[in-house]
Amino acid sequence: MTKDLYELGEVPDLGHVPPTMLAQVIRQARFGEPKDAFQREVVPTPTLGARDVLVYVMAAGVNYNNVWAAMGIPIDVIKTRQKKGEKEDFHIGGSDASGIVWQVGKDVTNVKVGDEVVVHCGMWDHDDPHVLAGKDPAIAPSQHIWGYESNWGSFAQFAKVEDHQCLPKPPALTWEAAAAYMLVGATAYRMLHGWQGNTVQPGDPVLVWGGAGGLGSMAIQIVKAAGGRAVAVVSGDEKIDYCKQLGAVGVIDRRRFNHWGKLPRWSDDLEYGVWLKGARAFGAAFWEALGEKKSPAIVFEHPGETTLPTSCFMCDTGGMIVICAGTTGFNATLDLRYHWMRQKRFQGSHFANDAESKGVNDLVIAGKVDPCLSRTFAFDETGACHQLMRENLHPSGNMAILVNSPRPGLVSVDDVRRAR
Ligand SMILES: NC(=O)c1ccc[n+]([C@@H]2O[C@H](COP(=O)([O-])OP(=O)(O)OC[C@H]3O[C@@H](n4cnc5c(N)ncnc54)[C@H](OP(=O)(O)O)[C@@H]3O)[C@@H](O)[C@H]2O)c1
Repeated sequence: MTKDLYELGEVPDLGHVPPTMLAQVIRQARFGEPKDAFQREVVPTPTLGARDVLVYVMAAGVNYNNVWAAMGIPIDVIKTRQKKGEKEDFHIGGSDASGIVWQVGKDVTNVKVGDEVVVHCGMWDHDDPHVLAGKDPAIAPSQHIWGYESNWGSFAQFAKVEDHQCLPKPPALTWEAAAAYMLVGATAYRMLHGWQGNTVQPGDPVLVWGGAGGLGSMAIQIVKAAGGRAVAVVSGDEKIDYCKQLGAVGVIDRRRFNHWGKLPRWSDDLEYGVWLKGARAFGAAFWEALGEKKSPAIVFEHPGETTLPTSCFMCDTGGMIVICAGTTGFNATLDLRYHWMRQKRFQGSHFANDAESKGVNDLVIAGKVDPCLSRTFAFDETGACHQLMRENLHPSGNMAILVNSPRPGLVSVDDVRRAR
C-alpha cells in the first residue's frame, strides 16, 4: 500500500516516494531564536535532477550553520536562493545525514536504491568549468554547502543531495552516530591533510584549539591517526580527560591565561609587554604538555579574533596556522614580524572535497576516528538543540537528531522496520 504522507519511521516500500513529507522548516516570518524558528510542517518531497539522489533520512547531524540560518543572519538564506531563481519560500536545513538511497537521477552511477549512506555537505555544479578542468572542487566558484546554502537538507524525511556527496555508512555505527561526524570530520581532515607542504606528519606537534568541541574532537583523532602529537586547549576540568581519551598527548586549560583578544599595538611597550608575557607563558605550557621544547608544526584555528595573535606567535618556523572560522570575531590581528621572519603560512580552509570526505570516512570505518556523539535528540527537538548550541550550552563532541529512525541504537533499515 502506498500513501501520500508517512509517519516518522513508517518505512515506505523501498523506492516508493510519497508526494509529501515531514520537515523541520524555517520561514522568514519566524527568523529569530532557533527554538521558535524551526517548526514541523508537511512540505512537497523534492524532485531530482539527473545527477541527484533522494535519501530517506534516518538521522541528521547538528551544526552551527543552521543556528545562523534560523536567525536569518548574517544572511537570509531563503532570499539569497530566491535571487538565484529558487521558488521555495522556506529553508530545510541540515548538513549531515545518515540514511538510505531511495531514488536516483537518470545519470547517477555511484550509488543505487537501497544503499546505506552518509552524506557530506560539499556541493558544486558538475558543469562548472573549474570542476570540469579537474581542479579542486572545494574552491570552485559554484561550491556551496548543502543544507545551508542549499535547500532540502537533512531535517526532513527525505533529503536531496548530489551523487558525489554519498559515501558508505560505516556498517557498525548506529544511524545517529553515523550522522554526527562528517561535516566537522571532513573539515578537520582538509585542514590537517589538504594543504601540501604543511600536512601533518608522524611526530609533528599540533596545537588544537577547542579540543573538546566538534572540530577539535575530530582534529585530535586525525592527528593521532597520522602519528602526530596533538596538544588540545580547553576551558573546563571535565574536558581535559575527554581530550586525553581521544588521544591528545597533553591538554592546556585556557582559563589559566588572560592575554586573549586583539593584539596590542607593537609600539605600546607596556601593553605589548603584558601580552608577550602571557603568550610566552602559554608557549611554556605547550612545551610542558608536549613533554618537549618544540613548537607546533600546525596550529588548528577556529576561535579567531581572541586566539590568533597567540597562534601566530606559537607556530613553528615554516609551520602553518590553518583556520576555518572566527567564532569569537573576525578582526584578525597578528604580529607580522613573527610571520615573515619565521616564514609561517596562514591558510584559510573551508569544508572539504570528495577525497577528503572519503579520507575521514575511511578513518571512521577503520575505527580510528570515533564520531564523538554526545547527545541524541528527537525530531521535534530540532529547534531546542540548535538553541543549546546558540547559547553554548551544548555538550562536548557532536549532536544528532533522529529523523526516521524511531529510537537510538538502531543500525540498519531492518532494525527500523522491526522497531515499529
Ligand atoms: N568553515 C568550515 O568548513 C567549518 C566547518 C565546521 C565548523 N566551522 C565553524 O567552526 C567553529 C567551531 O565549530 P565546532 O563545531 O567545533 O563548535 P563547538 O563544538 O562549539 O566547539 C568550539 C570550541 O571553541 C572553543 N572556544 C569557545 N570560545 C573560545 C575562546 N574565546 N577561545 C578559545 N576557544 C574557544 C570551545 O572550547 P573551550 O571553551 O573548551 O576552549 C568550544 O569547544 C564554528 O564557528 C563553526 O561554525 C566551520
